[in-house]
Amino acid sequence: MNKLKIMTIFGTRPEAVKMAPLVTELARRPECESICCVTAQHREMLDSVLSIFQLVPDYDLDIMEPRQTLSTITSKCLIGMDELLNKTRPDLVLVHGDTSTTFSGALSAFYHRIPVGHVEAGLRTWDKYAPFPEEINRTMVGDIATLHFCPTKSNRKNLAGEGIQKGVFITGNTVIDALHTTVQKEYTFTTKLLNELDYENRKIILVTCHRRENYGQPMEHIMTALRRLADQYPEVELVYPVHLSPVVRETAQTYLGGHARIHLIEPLDVAEMHNLMARVYLVMTDSGGLQEEAPALGKPVLVLRRETERPEAVEAGTVKIAGTEEETIFAMASELVESSAAYEKMAHSVNPYGDGRACARIADAILWHFGRRTTPPEEFSGE
Ligand code: UD1
Ligand code: UDP
Repeated sequence: MNKLKIMTIFGTRPEAVKMAPLVTELARRPECESICCVTAQHREMLDSVLSIFQLVPDYDLDIMEPRQTLSTITSKCLIGMDELLNKTRPDLVLVHGDTSTTFSGALSAFYHRIPVGHVEAGLRTWDKYAPFPEEINRTMVGDIATLHFCPTKSNRKNLAGEGIQKGVFITGNTVIDALHTTVQKEYTFTTKLLNELDYENRKIILVTCHRRENYGQPMEHIMTALRRLADQYPEVELVYPVHLSPVVRETAQTYLGGHARIHLIEPLDVAEMHNLMARVYLVMTDSGGLQEEAPALGKPVLVLRRETERPEAVEAGTVKIAGTEEETIFAMASELVESSAAYEKMAHSVNPYGDGRACARIADAILWHFGRRTTPPEEFSGE
């Protein structure tokens, strides 16, 4: 029998972190020919992940431009994918999550009548503009996809509410598979500062903030609250690996620059990031991925957004929505700095997003769908 040709398409840092273990899993399966295509919607931040997971893409569309717009990303991806899909004709295209690469990868496969598998399917806020444009990207990919790999039961419920019931599998999130390969008990950082921080005696807070809907006032309010936190508490130190987006860098420099206990550093490679997260006191972020990783590492998270599509860890009590208002963020973070009771209530490890076997389940589901396996994959139970 011919091997199944499975093309993975991804382009940004979070997609790469979450697709890398799947590319490795597919390459391990004798029934599959794994073809890896990157759009390089991100360049440096993508390459950093590829290098940590020792992945060499088969195709690289190299589309990134400084200050790119949603339209340029989408149109460059579509044009690049057109030629590639004509040439390679995979049996299945896999996309991940909700970025512009995700949407254009799926649309392009649809134009070529190639079935699509959506990894990290079914996340929803039900707000078109938050996160923007991700909510609509993932909804449209849900309409296009034939196979839907949902991390959790509630993601499946979201799809069912939209009438999507066929080809849905609960697999857990592949980010937990990635985390299992990067976090080490004894880890020496290559970033000098991270080896020098006093994790035992100081309250080190890991910060990230990059979302498009936070650009402008919300980001300014968030950063003002963060600076107040560092001013108010001498035991607090902030470590903020700043995203390479010029909009984010300018705002971070203006609001957080020049403070002795605020470390604005370059983006970290993912091994450094995961091991840093395992050692800090608290995480404050608007990132999707960090909301999934930190709970598995027992770290409380304050979400710097008005909503989340990841309610599971909120329900488990390790994540709280802090919003984008200065006063609320400052008050919620202050409580966790001052009150060990409030802190301990949140600081326990939970695994609602996965058990490290999501990629195996996705590969099994694909083989089952194509009749190369007699049984469907077992479901991730989330308990
Ligand atoms: C994108 C995704 C977002 C995801 C985020 C992860 C979309 C619409 N947004 O947003 O869902 O949460 O990635 O980080 O797909 N840049 C570099 N080098 C890099 C990466 C980015 O210089 O390696 C700069 C470029 O100037 C680029 C800008 O950052 O134009 C913005 O990148 P872009 O992918 O458009 O948006 P993100 O905010 O990264
Ligand atoms: N990450 C990283 N280095 C950083 C910041 C984030 O390796 O400096 C990792 C993080 O651990 C997670 C992923 O990148 O796996 C999340 O990416 P990001 O926050 O950019 O995107 P989102 O998840 O919000 O889409």
